[in-house]
Amino acid sequence: MNEVRELGQELIEQGEVSHTHEVLPAICSRRSIRQFTDAPLSGEDVQILLEAGLRAPSSRGAHTTQFILVESRETLTELSYMRPDGADFLRQVPLGIVILGSPMECERWIADASLAAGYIQLQAEALGLGSCWADVFGQNTSNGQEASEYVRNVLGIPYQLEILCIVAVGHKASSLAPHAVEELRWEQIHIGRYPALEEEASQS
Ligand SMILES: Cc1cc2nc3c(=O)[nH]c(=O)nc-3n(C[C@H](O)[C@H](O)[C@H](O)COP(=O)(O)O)c2cc1C
Repeated sequence: MNEVRELGQELIEQGEVSHTHEVLPAICSRRSIRQFTDAPLSGEDVQILLEAGLRAPSSRGAHTTQFILVESRETLTELSYMRPDGADFLRQVPLGIVILGSPMECERWIADASLAAGYIQLQAEALGLGSCWADVFGQNTSNGQEASEYVRNVLGIPYQLEILCIVAVGHKASSLAPHAVEELRWEQIHIGRYPALEEEASQS
């Protein structure tokens, strides 16, 4: 366990990691970025991001997750109102990737779509880009409409598909320090079996 912790610390001490395709540095340095410059993403970057999403593991290898790329400022602004708060950053970002699941084709659609979103966020970090997840599924607009219904209407998404989230990706206009390795909840890792109640109390 200490070795794992030390490796994380070493990577963090190396400073900002960008423009690399190595996964561990991206895992360590990724933070949710909600401020972006106006610079558009290159076509190559967008392709690499989508490839990461498509390469994510999926239940039974069914790969039913779908993606909608939204670059129109007007549409992204409209989408930002799917929630009373928590999605304002969509008004600034150059690209929103709407992540869609297909419950009729795959009952594990939430897991599959979440992995695809996470892979895209890690790939964004590896490219030196910022990203943030804007939650849709299970959320509501300020007047109580389901956020999914709102987004469905804006983008013409058919009823057989569910909308998990929108991953905003752009060039960072702010930076956040990586979470320090000491901040990680190592106490939530249990070895071999779940500790008995008294053992758990003595660990905390
Ligand atoms: C399932 C999920 C839903 C999230 N929903 C939102 C959201 O709607 N709006 C937002 O600003 N951030 C959202 N986030 C980002 C989290 O707030 C963020 O990951 C958390 O605060 C930790 O910060 P970090 O990503 O910088 O480590 C979401 C993240 C996850 C995994």
